[in-house]
Amino acid sequence: MVTQDSSAKTYAPDEAFTAQAVGQSTLFDDAEADREGFWATQARERISWSTDFDQTLDWSNAPFARWFVGGELNVSYNCVDRHVEAGNGERVAIHFEGDQGDTRTITYADLQQEVSKTANALAELGVGKGDRVAIYMPMIPETVFTMLACARLGAPHSVVFGGFAADALRTRVIDAEAKVVVTTDGQWRRGKPAPLKATVDEALAVTEGKEDADSVTNVLIVKRTDSPVDWVEGRDVWWHEFVDGQSAEHTPEPMDSEHPLFILYTSGTTGKPKGILHTSGGYLVQNAYANAVVHDVHPETDVYWCTADVGWVTGHSYLVYGPLANGATQVVYEGTPDTPHQGRWWEIVQKYGVSILYTAPTAIRTFMKWGDDIPAKYDLSSIRVLGSVGEPINPEAWRWFRDHIGAGKAPIVDTWWQTETGGIMISPLPGVTTLEPGSAQRPIPGIKAEILDDEGQRLTDPGAVGYLVLTEPWPGMLRTIWGDDERYKDTYWSRFGPEFYFAGDGARYDEDGNIWVLGRVDDVMNVSGHRLSTAEIESALVSHPRVAEAAVVGATDEMTGQAVCAFVILRSEGADAGGAEGEELIQELRSHVGKEIGPIAKPRQVMIVPELPKTRSGKIMRRLLKDVAENREVGDVSTLADSSVMNLIQDGMGKPAS
Ligand code: WTA
Repeated sequence: MVTQDSSAKTYAPDEAFTAQAVGQSTLFDDAEADREGFWATQARERISWSTDFDQTLDWSNAPFARWFVGGELNVSYNCVDRHVEAGNGERVAIHFEGDQGDTRTITYADLQQEVSKTANALAELGVGKGDRVAIYMPMIPETVFTMLACARLGAPHSVVFGGFAADALRTRVIDAEAKVVVTTDGQWRRGKPAPLKATVDEALAVTEGKEDADSVTNVLIVKRTDSPVDWVEGRDVWWHEFVDGQSAEHTPEPMDSEHPLFILYTSGTTGKPKGILHTSGGYLVQNAYANAVVHDVHPETDVYWCTADVGWVTGHSYLVYGPLANGATQVVYEGTPDTPHQGRWWEIVQKYGVSILYTAPTAIRTFMKWGDDIPAKYDLSSIRVLGSVGEPINPEAWRWFRDHIGAGKAPIVDTWWQTETGGIMISPLPGVTTLEPGSAQRPIPGIKAEILDDEGQRLTDPGAVGYLVLTEPWPGMLRTIWGDDERYKDTYWSRFGPEFYFAGDGARYDEDGNIWVLGRVDDVMNVSGHRLSTAEIESALVSHPRVAEAAVVGATDEMTGQAVCAFVILRSEGADAGGAEGEELIQELRSHVGKEIGPIAKPRQVMIVPELPKTRSGKIMRRLLKDVAENREVGDVSTLADSSVMNLIQDGMGKPAS
């Protein structure tokens, strides 16, 4: 069902929605009146502390923050045990949907038992408070059990995305000096088993010319695909032999509020990944709060589904810690959106009655490309809130999402945040905010952001493009880069001085004071002295009826500094546009962008391609496209979801226009 206002500029909240919303407009007033007091209230209302804190924020050693100083809590207790103690043990915590169609229903009481067994097993392997555990696993319940077991023991985990190759795993294990690696024999990928433990073996093998990952004493292996494994005697341990027989009771020990919870590696501007460190109290408070007020979670009635992989921060904050701290019921799905068919997600929504769906723009655009008729076959009437994260969502995708998935009425929360921020920072509050497609809008209550120009002056004029900064410390902020305090200060707190956390994103305000995040500043192009955002041009391209997806890069150009190069995927209808027709279409697309943004934004080249190079988290790797656009040899493709994509692009590339 599509409502009449599908091309409206803004969407005011529905009164009935507002009446039941978790986050009310008074939150803004409360946070404005006393920001620290506001966070102290959130902390005490949403989280159970074994010892209350005596100071909300200690910023005396900035930029190294301490939140909820003196407080003690156990994160795992907050996400598991307290719900059982409150009489909600029979509530489903996880509806697990496997790639093969296998399912598992895990109540909070089950979760308590499984997490306890896992904690006992890790303890028997010698994992204690402060020891690091690397988790290299697919999206299965054991992954969640392991994360929560680590939190229970005070052993920081480092989840390494299951799509990373051996060297990436080796570097991360070495940097964190992990004691144990938890993995599976294999993982299901599009209906087929792929080895995983073999990659761990390779990462841990003594290899000439490579640093040894010799901190690891044990590898704990879940049997998932029945793939053959090479056994390393004395090191390797089967989960089903070692964990399943453990006691299902384990007493969580209180940890200091600032005790490290996890390290999550993310790419920086240099080759060496940054180990982003998050701690216990502040991280949990911000995510319990944001999940409640931004996703509007009502734990008694909602079925929540965050489609992110646990290997990324979204999986940490909004699949594990936020929703479980809130006692929510959620879906965990192991597979891909098109296995075994392109309606798989909508089938899952229908089956479990999913009411809140949190996903990424790239997925939404993929569904648009597949066609409206696919979701139309399913009953999606349970959906009442939609969310987007990871990159700017173009208004066309936003409207498609609302119309075709949200029945033309579900509010969409476009949430801006980063691995470093730990939790959602800029987002509408559903039921409060009048939504504006394409904009993440305002900092949520308790958060402060500004846009600065090159000199660090505050920009307020609508349209002026600058740098997004955060001006006050926040509970879920990263505490440092693991083992590298200097890099932490340099990367985030030096560009505009120690007062400002520099997010690395470009942004502008519109006439209504809404923030439009324009993408990483390294994705902001400078063409003839004009700043252009890749995201804006991409959005213009996908607003053309023939275009399904687009990626834009700034290629070095002698005349203009940088030139706009666009790569586009066409919608299924007539996707094989070639020859004269293709040439015509390319010119049409160039003019279309010229029309949408201005002649300066007209791409120098438009290349029609069958696929775009994406990481497994769905981010387009513009660096590789830049190599193509600048006629260079294509760089490292190891983090691509499908490394053959670059060959496809190079082989089948359309002729550059003019
Ligand atoms: C981008 C993901 C625009 C941004 C949670 C940021 C977004 C980077 C949005 C962090 C959004 C994320 N609108 N851009 N709603 N959400 N980004 O660390 O460039 O994987 O700096 O964290 O993604 O990516 P990360």
